[in-house]
Amino acid sequence: MTKIQNFDFNNDFPQDFTWGVATSSFQIEGASSADGKGPSIWDTFCLDRANIKDGSDGTVACDHYHRYREDVGILSSLGVDAYRFSMAWARVQPDGKGAWNEAGFGFYDRLLDELAANDIRAHLTLYHWDLPQGLQDDGGWLNRDTAHRFADYAHEVARRFGKRIEAIATHNEPWCTANLGYGNAQFAPGVADLKQSIQVSHHLLLSHGLAMRAMREASSPAKLGIVLNQWTADPATDSQADRDMAAFEYARSTQWFMDPIFKGHYPELALRGHGANAPQVRDGDFDIIRQKIDFLGCNYYFRSWCSAANPPLPAPARLGTTDMGWEIHPQGLPELLLKLKEEYPELPPVYITENGMANPDTVSGGQVHDPERIAYVRSHLAALKEAMDKGVDVRGYFLWSLLDNFEWNSGYSKRFGIVHVDYATQQRTLKDSALWYREFIAARRAGA
Ligand code: FCB
Repeated sequence: MTKIQNFDFNNDFPQDFTWGVATSSFQIEGASSADGKGPSIWDTFCLDRANIKDGSDGTVACDHYHRYREDVGILSSLGVDAYRFSMAWARVQPDGKGAWNEAGFGFYDRLLDELAANDIRAHLTLYHWDLPQGLQDDGGWLNRDTAHRFADYAHEVARRFGKRIEAIATHNEPWCTANLGYGNAQFAPGVADLKQSIQVSHHLLLSHGLAMRAMREASSPAKLGIVLNQWTADPATDSQADRDMAAFEYARSTQWFMDPIFKGHYPELALRGHGANAPQVRDGDFDIIRQKIDFLGCNYYFRSWCSAANPPLPAPARLGTTDMGWEIHPQGLPELLLKLKEEYPELPPVYITENGMANPDTVSGGQVHDPERIAYVRSHLAALKEAMDKGVDVRGYFLWSLLDNFEWNSGYSKRFGIVHVDYATQQRTLKDSALWYREFIAARRAGA
């Protein structure tokens, strides 16, 4: 067992702070056509082997669909308060419209029972990128009607499960759906068209607002919100060009999704920059999007480093980079949170819904030594505490991820889990970081 390091940072998090881990449906469930599940756009995207670095797909993934009891057992042994996971829309409504699939709902029913039996609170995400292919065939998120289909789905989930779930997020990282799915074709559905990606971002925001309304109508007692991937944007130098670039980058990413929700309009700077690619917005859209949310989920991995030079100046990466090549920059987290608090006076309580790192972990003698991940998490918790001490209302932290899993277009080549998965045998092995997190949470409980 790993030697537990001293908690040498100001770690007196509130006693009722929520400690959790996160996953998503497509990345872990597998069983991609079991019990009436329809195909999603990620099933389709993986059919073209060139789209995924290792030519893999989500047919089996971590086989969580069949092993959920074992996985909840691991959650329980870690002592987490809450588990963040997503629902595969195509499992519960194979075509994304029309009939519900009772067998699909049955899986989430059993999962929620298992969580409750282990005293673990459920934080559900409705959409973590796996759109039913049937809706893609009708135009996907470029078709405004998809936003209405999403609201129907949200209503049904809230009606059925609302009482058993602590928090429901409409979307996970709509920035990625729009920019990677439609902007540069790295993610499903694999479109590279800037104008389309911007229109898609508007429909995603619209769908968020419609879903919020639909879930409130279902009288769901769950807290309702959205999960955004967010970052600050730092100019590489003091030059005007770098500073302009950073301002535009921040406006087109973080503010692009925050302003409509909290201010009822798009940020002026980004709109100007988008020019003729600006989205078509109908009268009343912003009234729908600007709903009071109960919480904001913030996924933080890195900052954006903006250099207008050719070639661009690389980020300093003083603490190194992860296996994804992402700069480790914990200080960006409090900078971001403090900025949000200042810019959005109506900011609701925040949950860090994802944070973690990929590392090339291997098992030896039944152990996985990942001191890099422990250091990563510790440094980000220290940074998070700094933001809280300066007045940001943060209620919980979800480590990404419980398990090594299908990392989108990187396939299984990147390992984000605190639990190692041997994909040939589906053997789970707790990494040192899992043991560390367990001790850390237990110490919090004991008030250490
Ligand atoms: C986030 C995604 C999550 C995972 C992590 C590494 O952008 O929400 O599914 O891929 O990155």
